[in-house]
Amino acid sequence: MNVLRFSELVAQGKAAGQRVFIRADLNVPQDDAGNITEDTRVRASVPCIEMALKAGAAVMVTSHLGRPTEGEFKPEDSLAPVARRLGELLGRDVPLVANWVDGVDVKPGSVVLLENCRVNKGEKKNSEDLAKKMAALCDIFVHDAFGTAHRAEASTYGIAQFAKVACAGPLLAAEIDAISKALANPKRPLAAIVAGSKVSTKLTILQSLARNVDQLIVGGGIANTFMLAAGLKIGKSLAEPDLVGEAKAVIEAMKARGAAVPIPVDVVVAKEFKPDAAATVKAATDVADDDLILDIGPKTSAALAGQLKAAGTIVWNGPVGVFEFDAFAHGTETIARAIAESSAFSIAGGGDTLAAIAKYGIEKDVGYISTGGGAFLEVLEGKTLPAFEILQRRAASSAA
Ligand code: 3PG
Repeated sequence: MNVLRFSELVAQGKAAGQRVFIRADLNVPQDDAGNITEDTRVRASVPCIEMALKAGAAVMVTSHLGRPTEGEFKPEDSLAPVARRLGELLGRDVPLVANWVDGVDVKPGSVVLLENCRVNKGEKKNSEDLAKKMAALCDIFVHDAFGTAHRAEASTYGIAQFAKVACAGPLLAAEIDAISKALANPKRPLAAIVAGSKVSTKLTILQSLARNVDQLIVGGGIANTFMLAAGLKIGKSLAEPDLVGEAKAVIEAMKARGAAVPIPVDVVVAKEFKPDAAATVKAATDVADDDLILDIGPKTSAALAGQLKAAGTIVWNGPVGVFEFDAFAHGTETIARAIAESSAFSIAGGGDTLAAIAKYGIEKDVGYISTGGGAFLEVLEGKTLPAFEILQRRAASSAA
């Protein structure tokens, strides 16, 4: 993907003394007292800010936080906790600036955090007027918010249209590189794991991946629907019987390409959905009417682990069982450890997947862990994200 990168501008000395506006995704969870409970996104924003400061730029950073009502700032909408955390990480004071659309006072070598950009009127609808005002604040616009790359808002899209220079920050560039490596030019075989409770929420992902991947490993409630499609009984397990036709179509599309959707040969069942429910391993053909499938069985996980170890590329979204309950975590743990041990390039994303990666401590063994939630899913759906589209367009027009 051809986009201008901020790192290139910095290497050419083009950021020194310039006003640099960084759109980060600092949308982090907080507890009721306003403490940040998970700060990955704040930490992920640091390299871009440090790059700009080191280059001698006057640095403005903004982000959305939550989904506030435009024009009605409330205390809980404030980025103040983020400014404090960012200050700790950067080892310097990060002043928080409110009402910044018409002008920002910041000197080269300094950084300010601009208050929640979604409070500005016109942000969500990508108002041209607002986007032009934001673009006028800077010489260089840096999009470094992969988590928001699927939104076309004034601070993510409009500003990129109107800023003198628009480029990708190091986080966005790393996500672009990892996505291209995994999906555009993958080393084969390419295996994808798509798991979760419902086929309906991931149907477009399954259909899109069915055109590209060599093995489409399904898990969770999605696997149950595929088991139904394969003619197996699933007892009272979570599934969507009305989507069996779509599941069959995915299986057929894969077959037609010489690729496969591996259907579990054994499963772990319980009679109740509880952490201490008795777990029983059964052949996939022996599921009783009152059984709930809560995990894939050991034969299935061993076979899938073998495929993952032999893969060239792995895309992972979703745990394959109820891994929060120890008795039903074996499948997800086996998959996680196989990914960690595989020499394949792996990319993982999504809240539950990140929780599983953290539970098994394999962060360092996954090729790339995406910071995107919805954005990562839209990439898997095969969509072109608005951020990628506008940055490519700007790169093409500046090259012309
Ligand atoms: C996210 O948390 O996925 C991003 O920050 C995007 O947030 P949004 O769904 O409110 O646009």
